[in-house]
Amino acid sequence: MRKPLIAGNWKLNNTIAEATQLAETLTSEIGTINCTDIVVAPVFTALASVTQICASSTIQVAGQNCHCVDSGAFTGEVSAPLLVDAGCSHVIIGHSERRQYFGETDNFVNAKTHAAINAGLTAIVCLGETLEQRESGEMFDIITNQLSVALNEIIAEQTGKLVIAYEPIWAIGTGKTATPEQAKEVHKAIREYLARFDADIAQTLQIVYGGSVKPDNADAIFAQLDVDGALVGGASLNSNDFVKICNAAG
Ligand code: PGA
Repeated sequence: MRKPLIAGNWKLNNTIAEATQLAETLTSEIGTINCTDIVVAPVFTALASVTQICASSTIQVAGQNCHCVDSGAFTGEVSAPLLVDAGCSHVIIGHSERRQYFGETDNFVNAKTHAAINAGLTAIVCLGETLEQRESGEMFDIITNQLSVALNEIIAEQTGKLVIAYEPIWAIGTGKTATPEQAKEVHKAIREYLARFDADIAQTLQIVYGGSVKPDNADAIFAQLDVDGALVGGASLNSNDFVKICNAAG
């Protein structure tokens, strides 16, 4: 049995005061849940406040990104050890917005994944296809290629610190959700691909869905075999919606 994971990706939203307020509401409403891993990812500037609030709860905190080098002349970057220092347990890596707007490649995602795991973080590695790739029939090739490059030289012992987020790009922030069957199909393909290398790891690894998950579609998505929770964007900014989604997973 895999434990579900719900991660709220707050993206570029919320001042420290707003993030603090949201974290306080979440810790009081779902801060004792153990049957689901609950993670929130605020902006870097709010990490210190949010990790402090969440420390007394079961809610864990993620960075939204990290650099692949631990320290040095990399202006504007934040490294994996610094996220640990700020109290994070997780980091989101290779989100499609990073790939699309900041030119992140699969190889860069791989380097960051190594850096994150080496620092002791759980890496939530994102992958997914565009609508054109889906419609042209390349989807499975694209996804397995993203997976194989992103996980290059990640060894079996490190996979306990790994979560895969399947996020079809056409469903992110668009209000269009993959149907439960579409999500199930890709999650199954990801797990089968991983099973080629190690059947036990494939069975234990959390694979979460992302793309316009809302309270009214969460149940149907979570009911699918191989879907172990969600990476939630827009709906994670609203405490009522996020609480409902977390409760749907448990
Ligand atoms: P969304 O974002 O829920 O707003 O579609 C998901 C994500 O980007 O992780």
